[in-house]
Order: sequence, then C-alpha cells, then structure tokens
Amino acid sequence: MRTALLLSLLSATLGVKALQLQLPFKVPFFQSTFSPEDDEPPRGTPRVAIVGAGAAGSSASFWISKAQERFGVDVEVDVYEKTSRIGGRSLTVYPYDNDTYKSNLARSIFIKANKNLWRAAQEFNLTLKDLSSDDANLGIWDGEELRVNFGKGWWDTLKIVWRYGVLSPRRADSLQVQVSAMVSKYTSLYSSDSPKWDNITELAIGLGWLDLIESSGADYFIKNGVSKQYVFELIEAATRVNYGQNIDSIHALEAACSIAANGATQIEGGNWQIFERFLNHSGANVYTNTKVTSITQKQSKSRPWIVNSDKGSTGYKAIPKQPYVHLHVTLLTTTSPSMNRTYLSLSPDAKAPSMLLTTYDGVRQGGKAPEFNSISYHGKISETEWIVKIFSEAPVEDEWLQSLFDGQVGWVHKAEFDAYPKLPPTSEFPPTKLDQGFFYVNAFEPFISTMETETVASRNVVDLLLNEEFGGSSICGPRISGSTKEAIVKESDFVFGWDC
Ligand SMILES: Cc1cc2nc3c(=O)[nH]c(=O)nc-3n(C[C@H](O)[C@H](O)[C@H](O)COP(=O)(O)OP(=O)(O)OC[C@H]3O[C@@H](n4cnc5c(N)ncnc54)[C@H](O)[C@@H]3O)c2cc1C
Ligand SMILES: *[C@@H]1O[C@H](CO)[C@@H](O)[C@H](O)[C@H]1NC(C)=O
Ligand SMILES: *[C@@H]1O[C@H](CO)[C@@H](O)[C@H](O)[C@H]1NC(C)=O
Ligand SMILES: *[C@@H]1O[C@H](CO)[C@@H](O)[C@H](O)[C@H]1NC(C)=O
Ligand SMILES: *[C@@H]1O[C@H](CO)[C@@H](O)[C@H](O)[C@H]1NC(C)=O
Ligand SMILES: *[C@@H]1O[C@H](CO)[C@@H](O)[C@H](O)[C@H]1NC(C)=O
Repeated sequence: MRTALLLSLLSATLGVKALQLQLPFKVPFFQSTFSPEDDEPPRGTPRVAIVGAGAAGSSASFWISKAQERFGVDVEVDVYEKTSRIGGRSLTVYPYDNDTYKSNLARSIFIKANKNLWRAAQEFNLTLKDLSSDDANLGIWDGEELRVNFGKGWWDTLKIVWRYGVLSPRRADSLQVQVSAMVSKYTSLYSSDSPKWDNITELAIGLGWLDLIESSGADYFIKNGVSKQYVFELIEAATRVNYGQNIDSIHALEAACSIAANGATQIEGGNWQIFERFLNHSGANVYTNTKVTSITQKQSKSRPWIVNSDKGSTGYKAIPKQPYVHLHVTLLTTTSPSMNRTYLSLSPDAKAPSMLLTTYDGVRQGGKAPEFNSISYHGKISETEWIVKIFSEAPVEDEWLQSLFDGQVGWVHKAEFDAYPKLPPTSEFPPTKLDQGFFYVNAFEPFISTMETETVASRNVVDLLLNEEFGGSSICGPRISGSTKEAIVKESDFVFGWDC
C-alpha cells in the first residue's frame, strides 16, 4: 500500500518490555522477540513508536522530549526510518558529489511565519540563508510563448500593468489583505491557547477556512474579483511551482499559501539539519535503514500496538489511499548563463528569465503543455558555472537539456518524489486519530503541505497522545488546556510547545 510508504505515522506501543533488550535494531528483531500472539500483560516503560524521520517524525520525537524535560513523563521513543537519511523529502545533494557545493534538492524554503522552523534554526545555531533578495528575472511560460518576462525595463513594467489591468492588482491587493488575514489566523496555532484537533474539517471550520478548502483557487480568487488573467497566469505559476498543480484543481487555502511566501529563507547546507537536530536533541532511539511493514494490534486489555519491520502486511485500513503528485526534480550545472533564447522565442538580445515558471493556460486555449513546471537558476558553483533546478511531471531527456542550455550542461542529477498530496477542493480529510494510542500525523498534509505544518501537526498529535495515554498530560504539563508561561517570552516571540 502506497500510503504507508509516504507517511509518518505516530503510534504508541505501550508496555512492550522486550523491545528494550533489542538494541541495536534491524529487521528481524521485532518478530523474534514478541509476536501478536504474546498475551503477556504489558509491563515496563511505555514506548512510543514513530514511523519516518522526516519533518513530522523528527519533530514528534522532539515534542515528546519537551514533555519529558518539563514534567518527566516516563516514555521511551523509537524512530524507524527506512532510508539511511534523516529529513525525508527535505534533502541535500552535492553537484559533482562535492560537498563544497551544497544544494537543497527539494528547493525547500520556509518563512518567518513558520515559527517552529525559525525557532529551531535559532536554538540549534543553524545559519539562515535569506533568499528574498535573490533578484531573479521571473518569466511565465505557457508551453509556446513567454506570457510575461519581468525584471526588464520600464517598458515591460508598463506592459505588465496593462496586461493585468489597473483594477486587478488593486483587487489583488485586497486579496493580499485576505491572505494576511489567513496568515494571522494561522498564527493562532502557535499561541498558548492554540486549538487542539483530531478532526481537520473541524479545525478548518474553527479557523473560518471552510470556504477556502471547499473552493478551487480559481473559483475563489475570481469570485473575489481578481482578474482571470492574474489568476491563470500569476497565481497558477505559484501553485504549479509549489505544488505541481493547476489553479483550477487545487484548493484555495493551499493556493493562498503558495502566494503567502514572503521572505523566503533556508538553512545553509540544507533544511534537513533541523530534523537531525530534533532527533539528536530528543534522545530517541533512531533506527535508520529499517522499514516498517506492518503495524498490528496485540489482543490484550491495554491494546498495545506492535510495529513490525518484517515483510508482508499492508498499512492500516483506516487510512484511505492518499494520492500524491509524482514529481521529477532535475538538478544540473551549466556554463550557459541563460536558457536558449530560440527555445523561448526571444530575440537574441532579450534578457532570458533566470526563473521560469509556467501556466497551464495555453492548454486551456488549445495550445501545447509546458514540458516542465519550473526552471530556475540557483546560484553558482564557480565564476562560470551555475546550478539549475527543474521540476517536471515527466522525466526530462538529456538532449532536451543540452538544447535548452546550448550544449553546455556539466553535471546532471535526476530524482523523483511523491512530492505533495493532490490537493483538490474538499472538506474531507483523513483521520488524525486511527485508534487508541495510534495517530496519523500526515492527515494534515492534504490540508496544508509544508515542512512547518508537519511540525505543527506532530505537536498536536503528541498533545493528543499525552492527553490520552498519560493521564491528561500535554507538552506543557498536566493539563491539556490553559497553560502557565514558564519563562517570560515576548508575546510575539512566543511559540507554543517551545514555550509554555
Ligand atoms: C521537490 C519538493 C519541494 C518542496 N518544497 C518545499 C518548500 O519549499 N517548503 C516546504 O515547507 N515544503 C516543501 N516541500 C514539502 C516538504 O518537503 C514536505 O511537506 C515535508 O518534508 C513532509 O515531511 P513529513 O515528515 O511529513 O514526510 P517525509 O519528509 O516524506 O518523511 C517521511 C519519512 O518516513 C520514511 N518512511 C516512509 N515509510 C516508511 C516505513 N514504512 N518505514 C520506515 N520509514 C518510512 C521516509 O523514508 C521519510 O524519511 C517540498 C517537497 C518536495 C518533494
Ligand atoms: C571540490 O570543490 C573544491 C572547490 O572547487 C575543490 O577545491 C576540490 O578539489 C573539490 N573536491 C573534489 C573531491 O573534487
Ligand atoms: C548556540 O550558540 C550559543 C552562543 O554561542 C550557545 O550558548 C549555545 O549553547 C549554542 N547552542 C547549541 C545548541 O549549540
Ligand atoms: C546526531 O546524531 C548522529 C548519530 O548519533 C550523529 O552522527 C550526528 O553527527 C549528530 N548530529 C549532530 C548535529 O549532532
Ligand atoms: C536552441 O533551441 C532551438 C529551438 O528549440 C534549437 O533548434 C537549437 O538547436 C538550440 N540551440 C542549441 C545551441 O542547442
Ligand atoms: C470530521 O468532522 C466532520 C464534520 O463534523 C465529519 O463529517 C467527518 O466525518 C469527521 N471526520 C473524521 C475523519 O472523523
């Protein structure tokens, strides 16, 4: 079952004493030490199993350790990761396999409103790289022509104003106001009275976002007076580069998130370092190269869960299959300072965009589909060699790359991801709680899919787990609601979970 391969499940395996004797890890030890038939009453330290060491799993482990620090909840945490790496979809590769040239393969960025990642960067002394001052020339390609080519002179600026109309940018401004309102609602998730949820639809209703999740981005923005051209070119360019989905098939909440990214930043050397720090700080037992293949329930009164890493069984029936966008990411180096102008139908002296986004609007008008979702220049590895990243639905051919970069391609690396969930308008989400002591963190992803929101979703799940299994506890202490501030933190710096 595909689901199980994508997800970080958080489950509680309570009272399985045998597991403690089994360090260090590897496949058969689960089966050899205890089996579903083992009916012995549970004893020993309660254990929490976390499947997956991406943003969700690593932060879940960190949140549990926060509760341990604060009020000594007695629990042992095991993290199972099928690969040899920490970080999941957030990973770094090195051009020419030379680690002096670091590049975030997943292009992953976050913003200051992403309070957990921001705070983690500070607490773990990681260096932030500000990307907001990157002066990329932005272009939007429809498969046959460049609809717009920003970053040129006043004449082009004038053409752009003319293209989108005088009215629309102003409406878009009012949209910016709405997007800011959305961001400030979102910020309530970091306050000491943040809602706790086991049902994402109800969370959405509580935040006043039902309309956003039930409408497509196109319907929502057009209804709010933004011009079709603005929606189908500019906003669609953002949803295609961020989520590999068109504006008329993605829900408006995620579309709004796509254009809310002001002040992009990333961790120097790769965002995965945050997730490694989360795990190291947590003191959890981390088993890499260990794939969980089934989770079964032991027949006993306290109903502990058994996590198996042998072959065989499927995931958990309660999670409907979650469709993901399969994305091809191509990273390359080139000595060509810009893309082939002929391919882009530009005159030889025109400035080619260094960040080329796409719209599907050409196809809606009977044209050819863009061969990629985005192509962007991402800095240099030397005076004369640039790093370029391409996102596409299909794998790209080497010949095509050579013609796009005038025969001057150096190193090429191709990767594939189940990158983000398909995010159609809906008010139905997978269950957060699967059973007693058994939770599904990634239920949050079809609502909002980012690294940060996975850490928010895991904080919530850890709170639910502590509340349920540890007598009404929470990350911040014995009560799940209401909290005492443990240190004097400026209200604007307060981040629930880090602070209490
Ligand atoms: C190309 C790309 C660009 C992106 N850009 C951004 C961006 O700019 N900003 C942003 O915030 N987000 C971005 N994202 C999304 C972001 O990476 C994800 O939302 C986030 O990393 C999800 O974290 P996760 O822990 O939920 O899942 P994952 O990172 O997928 O982690 C799940 C982990 O579980 C492991 N695992 C799965 N099954 C098993 C099993 N059976 N047993 C053991 N281990 C298992 C996997 O190996 C993996 O390590 C991007 C994603 C991609 C692919
Ligand atoms: C990596 O790149 C640096 C800088 O260009 C270079 O000095 C070094 O020799 C390279 N290392 C390897 C192993 O190629
Ligand atoms: C981060 O740096 C500060 C100041 O240099 C230091 O006090 C702190 O211990 C460091 N934290 C970590 C996690 O390394
Ligand atoms: C985290 O722990 C792993 C395994 O013990 C170790 O290899 C790694 O260097 C540690 N990372 C940091 C940043 O401390
Ligand atoms: C540039 O693109 C055009 C049109 O796709 C192609 O015919 C030409 O060969 C390319 N130029 C180079 C140098 O590859
Ligand atoms: C969440 O709540 C909604 C509305 O109250 C309900 O229709 C839905 O079935 C619930 N979903 C889950 C997974 O429990």
